[in-house]
Amino acid sequence: MVGSQQTAPFDYIIFGATGDLTMRKLIPGLYNQLRIGHIPKDARIIGTARSHHTREEFIELAHQALDRFIPEVNKDEAIICEFLKKIDYVVLDGTKSDSNWKELGSKLNKAPDDRVRVFYYSTAPHLFGSISKNLSEHKLITKESRVVLEKPIGTDSASANEINESVSRYFSEHQIYRIDHYLGKETVQDITAIRFANPFMGAVWSHEYIQSIQITAAETVGVEGRASYYDTSGALRDMIQNHLLQILSLCAMEAPNSLEADDVRNAKVAVLKALRPIKGESIRNETMRAQYTKGGIGDQPVPGYLEELGHDSNTETYALMRAYVDTPRWKDVPFYLRTLKRSTVKVSEVVVTFKPSANGVFKHRAGLNKLVIRLQPNEGLELFLNAKDPSSPIFSFQQLPLSGKFATVDGSPIPDSYERLMLDVVRDDPTLFIRRDEVEAAWAWVEPTLQAWAEDKVPMEHYAAGSRGPIAAKTFIAKTGDEWHENMKL
Ligand code: BG6
Repeated sequence: MVGSQQTAPFDYIIFGATGDLTMRKLIPGLYNQLRIGHIPKDARIIGTARSHHTREEFIELAHQALDRFIPEVNKDEAIICEFLKKIDYVVLDGTKSDSNWKELGSKLNKAPDDRVRVFYYSTAPHLFGSISKNLSEHKLITKESRVVLEKPIGTDSASANEINESVSRYFSEHQIYRIDHYLGKETVQDITAIRFANPFMGAVWSHEYIQSIQITAAETVGVEGRASYYDTSGALRDMIQNHLLQILSLCAMEAPNSLEADDVRNAKVAVLKALRPIKGESIRNETMRAQYTKGGIGDQPVPGYLEELGHDSNTETYALMRAYVDTPRWKDVPFYLRTLKRSTVKVSEVVVTFKPSANGVFKHRAGLNKLVIRLQPNEGLELFLNAKDPSSPIFSFQQLPLSGKFATVDGSPIPDSYERLMLDVVRDDPTLFIRRDEVEAAWAWVEPTLQAWAEDKVPMEHYAAGSRGPIAAKTFIAKTGDEWHENMKL
């Protein structure tokens, strides 16, 4: 099948090709894009890593990854076979100048100079600089080259700056694609669609009608096999500094002048820069952190974070922040950013709670309107309206949910965020990637909190694995007259 959205021919060079992300997301993502006709015949995928594998062995690993991570309905033997033929492998230590660059170069240089080259760094971020340097020294960066940087871009402003500097010595900003896979989620893009394609929504989208916005990413999983990374990161760095602040930006930004990358990113960065600083004494009031203790999810007992880790730790698995965007549109509207591991349910959602009617006849009897944008799972939308309870002769109300699912028009599964983003790079469309000033603004805002937490200025709360977080979060939100939306209510 030849899709109308087929890209130009490209070479995708993956550093860290034997790692979990490559096998779980990148290889399956590219396969799926080939299946739906977006990848041209002569595209090539070249994996590189230090592990000694022959091309055949690497293809076998990729085949196993497809078996494991592609849903049955999307498996097509002929396409799998075609896909695997596009794969090659070079044993290479990207950080060493005298490694096997010649072999990589001779493969790449078989293609014309103007072919798109994407270098995907699926490695630890401190290696980004030396890989870029070696690519440059071996003259592998062409005009049509792009580089994809995986998160985390640093652990604070200084280290993020160092990473960005070390890459931008060899690539210009328009060639650098910083990935935040939440932006590739179709449902996250729905925030923009809902706000700006529905005039009635635009009309009420401000402090005049909105009381608060809750942004939640709750996961049932713990730290899995990533404890050594996670314990140096924690929930605030892992989820809030990037994914949740990006969602907040999309909820709060002014209408961009166009959907061009720079217009959208200008609108988002304006929000990040308008975030009211949380520092000094306000950190105790506006932030909360917690760790899970032992509990259970479904009928499975689950150990506590410290037991899983096997040593003591001051790392939070739950983070909550109350943010304010100091622009005329968002005057004093709290945005709650909340994320946790080992929640009782997996849910990522945006809950917009509207103010009560100011002078209506039903002012004291009707409930609050809410709009719930469910990002995952059960992707969809619910709008809670007040309707009369038919069992009552007088006006008493019930909340009537109007709901719809975000589904593709042709009934096909919603594509995974990575596969869409990977081809956006080939198409040279950075709209859904993070610009350097966004990374900097996000770090600048979270940094005082990170520091205060590291100095134990905010107590570490606890919650049982399989719960909805620490009970103290109930009083936290009540301070501003709000309560948590039902599925994550305490
Ligand atoms: C990653 C975090 O960026 O996002 C993980 O490092 C987290 O800790 C994951 O589990 C969540 O992504 P998703 O798409 O499953 O919500």
